Amino acid sequence: MIYYLFMRILTGIQPSGKLHWGNYFGAMKSMFDLQEKGEDMFMFIANFHAMTTVRDGETLRAATRDVALDYLACGIDPERTVMYRQSDVPEVQELAWYLSCLTPMGLLERCHSYKDKMAHGFEATHGLFAYPVLMAADILIMNSDLVPVGKDQKQHLEVTRDLAQKFNNAYGEIFKLPDAYIPETVATIPGTDGQKMSKSYHNTIELFDPSVKKKVMGIVTDSTPMEAPKEPDGNSIYELYKLFATPDEVADMAAKFRAGGYGYGHAKKALLEAYHRLFDPFRERRDELARDPAKLEDILAEGARKARAAAAPTMEKVRRAVGL
Ligand code: ADP
Ligand code: TRP
Repeated sequence: MIYYLFMRILTGIQPSGKLHWGNYFGAMKSMFDLQEKGEDMFMFIANFHAMTTVRDGETLRAATRDVALDYLACGIDPERTVMYRQSDVPEVQELAWYLSCLTPMGLLERCHSYKDKMAHGFEATHGLFAYPVLMAADILIMNSDLVPVGKDQKQHLEVTRDLAQKFNNAYGEIFKLPDAYIPETVATIPGTDGQKMSKSYHNTIELFDPSVKKKVMGIVTDSTPMEAPKEPDGNSIYELYKLFATPDEVADMAAKFRAGGYGYGHAKKALLEAYHRLFDPFRERRDELARDPAKLEDILAEGARKARAAAAPTMEKVRRAVGL
C-alpha cells in the first residue's frame, strides 16, 4: 500500500443523485477514517463535473447542498477537512485549459468512463470527453499526494499523472505526481438486486432513504425455504450486514444461517436494525444542519477561502511558466 503519514489527501464527489450505501462504504468512509488519522484533508463537491449529466440548475444546486449535508452529517469535520464546492475555485477551469492544450485526443478517447457513457446512450459532448482533464486540474491545483477513489476512477488518476508529467516536461517541475488510494478492503457493495449498487442500476438504498424498510425487505433472495441451512457467503443481505454489524454479530448471523431455521426475513430485520443504529444519529445531525442553511453556507464559504488560498501559489507558478 502506498501510504505515508500526513499527506495532502483530496477527493471529489459528483452531486448527481442521492448518495447511497455503496457511496458510504465505498468512498465516504475512507475519508472519515483518514480524517481521524489527522491527514491534510480536502474534499470537494464536483458540481462542474455533474453538469455533464445534470441539466437543471435547481436540481444541481439542491444536489450540491444535499451532498454537503450528507458528508457533514456522517463524519466530515470542517475544522479538520477543507470542504468546498468545485465552482468556488474557478481557477480549476483555468488550469484545465492549460492542461487541455497538452492533452492528446487519443488519451481521452481511451478512457473507459467516456466509452461507458457512450455505450449507455449519453450524448457525446465535449464536457464528457474532457471530463478527465478537469479532474486532473482539481487534483493538481491542490498539490495532492493521495486521491481516494473507487476502482472505476483509477484510469482518471493515470491520466492525471500523465498530464502532470507532460506539463512538467514542457514547463519545468511544477506538479507532484499524485497516487490513487483504493483501499483493498473496500468491497463492491451489492444493491437490492444483488448486482453492484449504483444509481444507474436503480438498485440503491440511499443514506437517509425514507423507504429504507421497504427496500431492505425487498432485497432479492433465492427461494431456499426458511428451515433449510444456507450458505451466508455471497448472500447480499449477509454481505450488507457485514458492513454495519460487529464481528460477533456477523459470526452469529453466519452460524444461524448455517444451522437452518433462520430465514432471509430474519436477516433483513437484523440488517435494518444495524442500519438504524449507525445512521439514526447521522440523521439527527443532518436534520439539525438542514435547519440552518446560513451555517452550511458559512462552512462552504470558509472551505472555499482555504481552498483558493491553497491553489493560489500553484496557479501563480503555472501562469508564470506558461507565459502569462
Ligand atoms: P454510482 O455508481 O451510483 O453512479 P458513483 O460512480 O457516483 O456512484 O460513485 C461515487 C463513489 O462511490 C466512487 O468512489 C465509487 O467507487 C463509490 N461507489 C459507488 N457505488 C459503489 C459500490 N456499489 N460499491 C463500492 N463503492 C461504490
Ligand atoms: N470523477 C469522480 C467520480 O465520479 C469525481 C471527481 C471529480 C473526483 N474530480 C475529482 C474525484 C478529483 C477525485 C479527485 O467519482
